[in-house]
Amino acid sequence: LQQEAQAKIQSAASLSELNELRVLYLGKKGPVQELMKGMKDLPKEEKPIFGQKVNQLKQLLSSMIEDKKVELEKKEMEAKIENEKIDITLPGRSPVLGNAHPLNLVKQELEDLFIGLGYQVIEGNDIVDDLYCFERANIPKDHPARDMQDSLYIDQNTLLGTHTTAIQMMVLEKSAPNLPIKVVCPGKVYRRDDDDATHSHQFMQMEGLVIGEKVTLSDLKGTLEFMAKKLFGQDRQIRFRPSYFPFTEPSVEVDVTCHICNGKGCPTCKGTGWIEILGAGEVHPNVLKMAGYDPEKCSGFAFGVGIERVAMLKYGIDDIRHFYTNDKRFSETFKRFD
Ligand code: PHE
Repeated sequence: LQQEAQAKIQSAASLSELNELRVLYLGKKGPVQELMKGMKDLPKEEKPIFGQKVNQLKQLLSSMIEDKKVELEKKEMEAKIENEKIDITLPGRSPVLGNAHPLNLVKQELEDLFIGLGYQVIEGNDIVDDLYCFERANIPKDHPARDMQDSLYIDQNTLLGTHTTAIQMMVLEKSAPNLPIKVVCPGKVYRRDDDDATHSHQFMQMEGLVIGEKVTLSDLKGTLEFMAKKLFGQDRQIRFRPSYFPFTEPSVEVDVTCHICNGKGCPTCKGTGWIEILGAGEVHPNVLKMAGYDPEKCSGFAFGVGIERVAMLKYGIDDIRHFYTNDKRFSETFKRFD
């Protein structure tokens, strides 16, 4: 039996054949097991010797099978490697490259620009507390901006952020009373607007906030002029027009000289030579006070720019809805900006 099994195991050509042999010889119904069972009929004094011999046989066959298994596995692996030869002369398959969304391009450009000026980038959530979106931004309960028509409330105290000012109010509270603060906060904002070529119920903003000792409107002007030149070209100039925001005093609206006609007047700027790009101002003392700062000891500016608006101007896009329809013919246009 031993010789027969040894010969068969030696000549097994595959792992499955070897496994069959293992079952055949060492399995429950195999000869080794049979020998074990037969032991009970032997005279008492022969049992130990017989048992020992059967066990030796069993161990011998097991270890032979084990060795053969290792050998066969190695062979199979070698065969596999042999067959799997990679032809390194074959040309590779080029992956289909996506391209950055124009809104992300503008967001990235703005972030890079402000990081270069020493700002930190802080992002917030889409859902914000009424406290930070309005109350802390000095927007009293009866202010039209709180009207249900403008805001999308989730419950009494939470809503989809209507402006990234909400993130700034949280940053302000967290930072108090440390100085200086220099942050930009990009984010999505939501308003109850009907969608058309220039309005969307959801869009993106990036807001900047700088608080320090004696930060003035002229610092704001210098910063925004730098931004306008980077975004729209070195020839650009900016101007401030008086405006109103509850969280800034004084408040301004900022225009840039038209990048299409360089201020001469064209359809893009409706013949005025100027294009409005953002709202800004000196942070209102009430806002500083509520966040835990002493308005006697520090001051600052804030500005909020619409990412869609900048992208539309920069790339000459005439309908805000193009950004959201995921039409590849539109998005592929921006490959050249990668
Ligand atoms: N929060 C304003 C808006 O959504 C923009 C703004 C930000 C104005 C900061 C002034 C200062 O329109």
